[in-house]
Amino acid sequence: MSEREIILETIDMKKHFGEVKAVDGVSFKIRAGEVVALIGPNGAGKTTFVNIVTGYYNPDGGKIYYMGRDVTKASRIKKIKMGIARSFQLVNLYDDLTVLDNIRIAVLSRMGKTSIFWKTVEHFNEIKKESYEILSTFGLAEKAPVPAKDLPQGERKILDVAIAFALKPKVLLLDEPTSGVSSKDKHAIMNKIIPAVRNEKIATMIIEHDMDIVFGYSDRVVVMYEGKILAEGTPEEIKQSKEVQEKLLGVGVSAAGS
Ligand SMILES: Nc1ncnc2c1ncn2[C@@H]1O[C@H](COP(=O)(O)OP(=O)(O)OP(=O)(O)O)[C@@H](O)[C@H]1O
Ligand SMILES: [Mg+2]
Repeated sequence: MSEREIILETIDMKKHFGEVKAVDGVSFKIRAGEVVALIGPNGAGKTTFVNIVTGYYNPDGGKIYYMGRDVTKASRIKKIKMGIARSFQLVNLYDDLTVLDNIRIAVLSRMGKTSIFWKTVEHFNEIKKESYEILSTFGLAEKAPVPAKDLPQGERKILDVAIAFALKPKVLLLDEPTSGVSSKDKHAIMNKIIPAVRNEKIATMIIEHDMDIVFGYSDRVVVMYEGKILAEGTPEEIKQSKEVQEKLLGVGVSAAGS
């Protein structure tokens, strides 16, 4: 694994909200094809970390490198165009549009055409074909004509990830893709996401509270606690870490989903 290219790296990343040191000196690396779980109790700073990396917040300190390039100050649109995509803890869908159109918009926006109407007419079938392929990958093809608002929660979560995937990112940051669904549905969601990202060798970081999911699907686990990285290692190493057990598993991380 270690010979693979580093896609994203943060060095001493910081974000403070008044007295709250939400992210307090996080140095993190992810390589092509790696699936990393980011875990930690509520308020540990996980979402804030993703918000900084994806350009939703400016950091108060530290650097972000994407494929060796300093992108610390790049806007979130620029970051999406470069290949840094995310999904949301609370899904971000066009509720009144169909499942197909939600994906179609992502594909179109990736193409970033200026004379969008004419280009769209010209490439309509091509875009539709690609959108269907993405929907098939995520098991949503049959739901193509359904308005996003009518999907069950598990499929809404998958669609949110599929939209990020449609942007063809090199790094994908997924904020609790399995929150708010049953344990069975969590596995169904992961069984769609993980093969898709592995197949494209996308560096994927998944924020997750459910330890069965964390240990079952990730190559490496990074533990955040009060804005800092408390530990990192293979799922086995993290499972056996006394410090992690005391600080996290002891306080019921697996039950703390939000
Ligand atoms: N925009 C904001 N303004 C003020 N405080 C914030 C803001 N965003 C996050 N915080 C605070 O920063 C800390 C970290 O929050 P964050 O949402 O990153 O945690 P998290 O690890 O994602 O938690 P959870 O598992 O509950 O999603 C919390 O104390 C939170 O209240
Ligand atoms: Mg969060």
